[in-house]
Amino acid sequence: MSAFVNVNGVITDAAHAVIPVYDHGFLYGEGVYEVFRTYHGVPFLFDRHQARLRASAARIGLGVPFTDDEIEWRSLATMTAAGLGNAGLAGDKPSGLSNDAYVRILVTRGVGEITYDPAACPTPSLVIIAKPLPVTPAAHYEQGVKVVMVEDVIRNHPESVSPLIKSNNLLNNALGMQQAIKAGAVEGVFRNYRGELSECSQSNLFIVSNGVVRTPPLEAGLLAGITRAFTMDVGNAVGIRCEEAPLKDADLFGADEAFFTSTTKEIVPIVRVDDRAIGDGRVGPITARLLAEYRREAERLSALSSRLSARTS
Ligand code: PDD
Repeated sequence: MSAFVNVNGVITDAAHAVIPVYDHGFLYGEGVYEVFRTYHGVPFLFDRHQARLRASAARIGLGVPFTDDEIEWRSLATMTAAGLGNAGLAGDKPSGLSNDAYVRILVTRGVGEITYDPAACPTPSLVIIAKPLPVTPAAHYEQGVKVVMVEDVIRNHPESVSPLIKSNNLLNNALGMQQAIKAGAVEGVFRNYRGELSECSQSNLFIVSNGVVRTPPLEAGLLAGITRAFTMDVGNAVGIRCEEAPLKDADLFGADEAFFTSTTKEIVPIVRVDDRAIGDGRVGPITARLLAEYRREAERLSALSSRLSARTS
């Protein structure tokens, strides 16, 4: 199983997928994207990803002339080409191996002359990449990971290119992640222009203190993570109080537990920030419980939607 790509309706293997260099997604990073995953072959929280894709596009004045159904069909066709169509529906996933899909949907301004005038690009490009979901090592969930504070670079100011836009222009994120990689860490934690914590380079940040789970508010300048919202819903439903609150360095360093969330990695415990342990330096009980409840709910919803689609097909 390898990556397959759908470029404006044409599916090829990744090596043969091409986009013109005059596409403004390439020239200017002018476009938006989403990443969703499957559980047992079933797209997870697909409607929420579609809604966020359209919200991001609206924020850059980009029309998305494709219906939700059209984007879904193209995604499913690309997954099928990649051998990930209904993978695992029979529950045959060997442990430690993922036969679930990673699907990245990109909508760009399209091809046009070298000018910022949107009128130069009458037709947006729709690119969909489907590949096996990268496996996060089990040790990351069981023992936790190290992250670093991103120094010298802050998260985009909300009134510049707002982090609410899931933009193809990912330079700010890449700069943060470069610092993490250099330090041998799995994520970098950004501060915002006020010096508060915002989010990580490709995930949302949470802390746990005195039994309460807290994450910075959207107003701190961060992506409205779909995993972030789902985690809070799941937590609150099982009696773990989850709320938004502005956070500072001291809140993170003094927390009992910390973790980050993203579509591809679910909930990853953080046990070290820079060279300092968080809590007792081990995966905390609330983080572990949230991860278990998250996975239980994801499995339940996926089973439900595959039963529903079997009934209607
Ligand atoms: N990253 N913050 C940033 C900056 C992100 O890029 C992401 C997701 C998140 C988490 O959002 P969600 O829970 O909706 O995946 C937060 C995706 C997975 C990526 O770029 O691959």
